[in-house]
Amino acid sequence: MSSSSGNLKVGGKDVELPVKDGTIGPSVVDIGKLYGQTGMFTYDPGFTSTAACESKITYIDGDEGILLHRGYPIEQLAEHGDFLETCYLLLFGELPTPTQKADFDHRITRHTMVHEQMMRFFQGFRRDAHPMAVMVASVGALSAFYHDSTDISDPHQRMVASMRMIAKMPTIAAMAHKYSVGQPFVYPKNDLDYASNFLHMCFSVPCEEYKVNPVLSRALDRIFILHADHEQNASTSTVRLAGSSGANPFACIAAGIACLWGPAHGGANEAALQMLQEIGSVDNIPKYIAKAKDKNDPFRLMGFGHRVYKNYDPRAKIMQKTCHEVLKELGIKDDPLLDVAVELERIALSDPYFVEKKLYPNIDFYSGITLKAMGFSTDMFTVLFALARTVGWIAQWKEMIEDPGQRIGRPRQLYTGSPKRDYIAMAQRK
Ligand code: ACO
Repeated sequence: MSSSSGNLKVGGKDVELPVKDGTIGPSVVDIGKLYGQTGMFTYDPGFTSTAACESKITYIDGDEGILLHRGYPIEQLAEHGDFLETCYLLLFGELPTPTQKADFDHRITRHTMVHEQMMRFFQGFRRDAHPMAVMVASVGALSAFYHDSTDISDPHQRMVASMRMIAKMPTIAAMAHKYSVGQPFVYPKNDLDYASNFLHMCFSVPCEEYKVNPVLSRALDRIFILHADHEQNASTSTVRLAGSSGANPFACIAAGIACLWGPAHGGANEAALQMLQEIGSVDNIPKYIAKAKDKNDPFRLMGFGHRVYKNYDPRAKIMQKTCHEVLKELGIKDDPLLDVAVELERIALSDPYFVEKKLYPNIDFYSGITLKAMGFSTDMFTVLFALARTVGWIAQWKEMIEDPGQRIGRPRQLYTGSPKRDYIAMAQRK
């Protein structure tokens, strides 16, 4: 990383601040000494101009629609690799050799079972609980089951916790699904690959043979790759902030899951499908486009727009292709939801409101239709997102913990409340 410096005039004072350059992307002004020199903080709610950390993991160019993991384009990883290979890349920085890949797959596969007492833990939930509520609680609870991997100062324990979470997340997610539909939990099967094993745990029942459809399993694996990491988004920043206090990794990932649940973030795939169902038919699209454009109407086109991408989300393109492959494999020719989605996308991409505001479909637009066709209930969509994003959260958490300059994250504020005033006794208050 090269660096220079820049001058800033703040409150009448000239301040010289270091400028740091990354390998690609915008440089940053290091404002760490600004308060000391001027007595002022910077103010950037929503972090639109603020880099919160230095990272070597993921790069996004939102204007060009580029997403790179450790330098490799997402399109190439999704086309040629599998999810566990992307996991290895995110965690260790390089693509694995055949031996490293075989060893990694083996280690993940050997960690897929969860502590048997977790089953009883599940029974405390209502059957109609949202599976994301179950995920937040059960992943947080892992720290109560795996004490031997919560010492974050020990690199071995950090690695064991990371492997455990990547391996156990599908098992816990499938348990959340099985619990909600009232079917018995299905144990993982070690002769199946990561995505096939997940399909097996979600959809097989003890009374009959379940054969994993390889087209669906490949599509699901690709969906996992597309969701694996996405730079310093809200949930990843949540994980980093939680981890900056030294909290154990299971607790940090539970915090990330809680953040991901929101409809402006991971919850958008569920919201996008609900919106397509509400629109119902191509004839109703103009009415909903008008609602989305109306400043006085809170309605937004779910699955459209992104804080960073001001061009087509590269993941959305792959997701759209995957969606068509899945529907073809399942023989779904006339899906009214797909018709609505295709037409909505066509209209929005040519409507001046969306064009001027650079609102393109994001990954969530087509993922809902695909997952629904595969047999997942709507409330499982964000769970699948959390499952796949776990590796990104862990890689980012690990990078932060291993940074020798790491300090607790502690933002400051612009205080606009009352100035100091004296306490008034209860009897004297009006
Ligand atoms: N439909 C209609 N108008 C929209 C939409 C939308 N989906 N998204 C943004 N706009 C408009 C806003 O009203 C605003 O208009 P204005 O400038 O006239 O006030 C302008 O575009 C900019 O929008 P902001 O909300 O300021 O953009 P921000 O970067 O804060 O929000 C977000 C990004 C949250 C993704 C937003 O586009 C949105 O709510 N989209 C729908 C939800 C969604 O799909 N989320 C998934 C994100 S991807 C992910 O997490 C995997």
